[in-house]
Amino acid sequence: MLEFQGNMVLIFFVWLVSISLIKTLFTKKTQSPLKLPPGPPLALPIIGHFHLLSSLVHQAFFNLSTKYGPLFHLMLGSKHCIVASSPEMAKEILRTNEESCSNHPPLIVGGCLTNGVLDYVFMPYGPHWRFMKKICMNELLSERTLEKFVSIRQQEIEAFLRSILQQNRSEQPLRVREELIKLTNNIISRMTMGKKCEGTNDEVGEITKAVQEVGVLLGTFNLCDYVVFLRNLDVQAVSKKLDTMMEKVMREREEARKMKNMMGDDQNCERGMDFLDCLIDLIGTEDSEMKFTRESAKVLTLEMFVAGTNSLAAAMEWTLAELIKNPKIFSKARKEIDSIVGKNRLVRESDIPNLPYIQAIAKETMRLHPPAPIIPRETTRMCKIGGYDVPSNSTLIVNYWAIGRDPNYWENPLEYSPERFLPKNGNDNLDVRGQHYQLLPFGSGRRGCPGASLTMLVFQTAMIDILLCEKDVDIPANLRRVISMF
Ligand code: HEM
Repeated sequence: MLEFQGNMVLIFFVWLVSISLIKTLFTKKTQSPLKLPPGPPLALPIIGHFHLLSSLVHQAFFNLSTKYGPLFHLMLGSKHCIVASSPEMAKEILRTNEESCSNHPPLIVGGCLTNGVLDYVFMPYGPHWRFMKKICMNELLSERTLEKFVSIRQQEIEAFLRSILQQNRSEQPLRVREELIKLTNNIISRMTMGKKCEGTNDEVGEITKAVQEVGVLLGTFNLCDYVVFLRNLDVQAVSKKLDTMMEKVMREREEARKMKNMMGDDQNCERGMDFLDCLIDLIGTEDSEMKFTRESAKVLTLEMFVAGTNSLAAAMEWTLAELIKNPKIFSKARKEIDSIVGKNRLVRESDIPNLPYIQAIAKETMRLHPPAPIIPRETTRMCKIGGYDVPSNSTLIVNYWAIGRDPNYWENPLEYSPERFLPKNGNDNLDVRGQHYQLLPFGSGRRGCPGASLTMLVFQTAMIDILLCEKDVDIPANLRRVISMF
């Protein structure tokens, strides 16, 4: 049996290589009139250049860029893929050609979230997308709304600190990643759905796991996205878990609203309107393209929940890892906090503008460890990028991870050095929100991340509070025992 299987594998490879050779020879004779960017020569049938990628796709792309330059071309399955690895090429895609490059391709992971319903993250750019973005900005992520939810964020950060102090007292190892994900989960679910992710430990664990699974899928390149006949990959399990959670939240909310209507507006309801309420109010409204349905409300809430949770937790985890590795930076940060905030109170979000070193630490983490290092876009029409032709329906990748390490822009790019963002070193005006193409952790342009401001508020406040906690918990020693990046 084993021998038979071995023979089949051998025959398959011989077939693969022969077909590729024939294809390469054939392609030479009928040369494409397109002037594509340079790239690796041999694309295998069916999978294209997938064999050149690894599980850390951004790093594989970075390695290829050192060979083929800041704009290179690959075949992923039968799809053209163009990868940009320098700020100049990022600008060509995200700004110069913004009109043609403003879609996120409909990836399989989208199916986990959207159940086939048109949503926001994977919706093509157009009037309905603008409608969805306006709702999210006005009702959840604008400065005014963020201000409204400040106490929720503060309460959750305090609960997180209490939990790690308690674990410290009981001499259990700190489960940092889990605690951070719980923190971001709770903040975002309270802001969107008005409640924490509740249930038995098992239920909460299942949902956290499902959210993490979607996060992993979002950050990975799936062959099934590019090879048509593999597209039936089973995303049902993750999708079902998330849908069950959202259905429960929706039903409870609909019941609560019915009660509220029966009892009169102000009675029996301490809770103000939140994101989900606003979405429920919109059900049934129509724009020129489509109707906003109950499913749309569920999917949009879920998307906000998933988009925010993992990346925010990852940013904090990377920062802690770097601070432990660099005790001098750790103690400099502590000194700044002690001198501005003092030792007797927790930090407030309003303290952040007075803490330039903390802000520099946050930017440096985003430069060296962008939590969403590549998010694909797709061309809607043929365009020219960097003087090369890019066909319609190509996948576009801006490698934010490679850009943060571009030696033309960053001195000693591999060194973790917040000092580079201090006023005396001239980079303090660099912002992370997509205006400066050498620092793009949140992407840029109309499809850039709408959650950047929320992220920076939570990320910096939580980080400072954790540092403050250090007088009670020997954080470096504790974290060193468990942090998963070492
Ligand atoms: C460290 C935290 C975060 C990072 C690094 C991050 C990064 C990104 C990136 C790189 C994109 C794609 C941009 C592009 O295509 O140019 C994106 C899109 C998006 N992000 Fe974030 N994000 C974070 C947190 C959040 C949060 C907290 C939320 C919401 C609560 C959020 C919601 C979204 C949404 C909805 C999109 C899709 C926008 C669209 O398709 O128009 N993100 N994010």
